[in-house]
Amino acid sequence: MNTPAPAHPDLRDNGTMKALVARRYGGPDILAIEEVAKPVPRAGELLIRNRASVVTAALCHARAGRGLSTRLYFGLRKPKWPVLGTNFSGVVEAVGGTVTRFQVGDHVAGTTATNFGAFAEYLLVTEDGAVVPRPAGLSDSQAVAVFDGAVTALPYLRDSARLQTGQSVLVNGASGAVGTAAIQLAKNFGATVTAVCSTANLERAKLLGADAVIDYTAHDFTRNLDTYDVIFDTVATSSFSRSRRALKRGGSYLTTTPSPMILAQMAYTSLIGGKKAAIAFTGLAKPAELVRTLAFIAELAEAGRFVPVIGATYPIEEAADAHRLVDTGHKTGSAVITIGGIPD
Ligand SMILES: NC(=O)c1ccc[n+]([C@@H]2O[C@H](COP(=O)([O-])OP(=O)(O)OC[C@H]3O[C@@H](n4cnc5c(N)ncnc54)[C@H](OP(=O)(O)O)[C@@H]3O)[C@@H](O)[C@H]2O)c1
Repeated sequence: MNTPAPAHPDLRDNGTMKALVARRYGGPDILAIEEVAKPVPRAGELLIRNRASVVTAALCHARAGRGLSTRLYFGLRKPKWPVLGTNFSGVVEAVGGTVTRFQVGDHVAGTTATNFGAFAEYLLVTEDGAVVPRPAGLSDSQAVAVFDGAVTALPYLRDSARLQTGQSVLVNGASGAVGTAAIQLAKNFGATVTAVCSTANLERAKLLGADAVIDYTAHDFTRNLDTYDVIFDTVATSSFSRSRRALKRGGSYLTTTPSPMILAQMAYTSLIGGKKAAIAFTGLAKPAELVRTLAFIAELAEAGRFVPVIGATYPIEEAADAHRLVDTGHKTGSAVITIGGIPD
């Protein structure tokens, strides 16, 4: 006897879940908690009960619809993805047929990357997506924070800069999510690190391993002539034009924020010898690449060679406050969101 075909997964009713929703562009006040359909895992997918996420500068740009490039990607008039959020950490609640790498009850963490949807109680990822076992010894809050800035900083330092032991790297914005990760990763690569941040964050940068610190409110690092092999401008408050004099011959200036100028500088410095300018688009990395990145960071974290930096934690019901903090441009480390009120 033939077994009846299962209903199309999208048509099956799996109940509802709470999610943080932004149905239009605007300030943090537009965010609302709504009951939305709980997703159903299809073949090859994991349904994850999500317990934590992070609010990032990039997600705040998306919420606000700031800038033409943001609108072109996220939707010209209204958001294509009403539920934002990328980083997640939680427990596999169900698996679709054919899943072999994970099973129900596994603790996992990762990123939904350009699928978003992590500001919700449940989310789907494919088993070959950007998901790994939650690093041993870390809570869900720590797991989302450990991957937050590191997923960006690692490709910049390892792949764009090809950072080598003994090289000198300056991290501008060293107290943010990307900056705190960059200090730690650069030290793991055997570099000498100079961290640039404001007065209040100098001690933290030293604790994370910085060999030298510069208070940007008192000193302009670009006056340190011919000093650095790599300048990683994680917050794009400088520029290649200003920073190049502080680079050694053949050094690289890396920035996280796209602009026509940096794209042009990257193109022409790749054609001629001398100092280079570069930007990477780490959020667009392929899942297999993201898995390698997550696994690398997890290994460092489990070995105690990379620690999560959590500046503030909010329950998802107070996520608007997290957005307000990130919008100031002065958060330290990660702004963590806890979901479901479940203890880590
Ligand atoms: N290209 C990509 O693929 C990619 C991926 C992810 C993120 N990004 C971008 O990367 C950027 C950084 O992200 P993030 O999460 O690290 O940001 P963040 O955590 O919000 O950065 C905040 C930090 O910036 C510091 N800061 C503010 N003004 C500064 C200045 N004038 N000089 C030096 N530091 C300053 C602040 O330190 P004080 O409080 O001490 O001032 C604060 O700790 C964002 O613009 C984001 O959109 C790009």
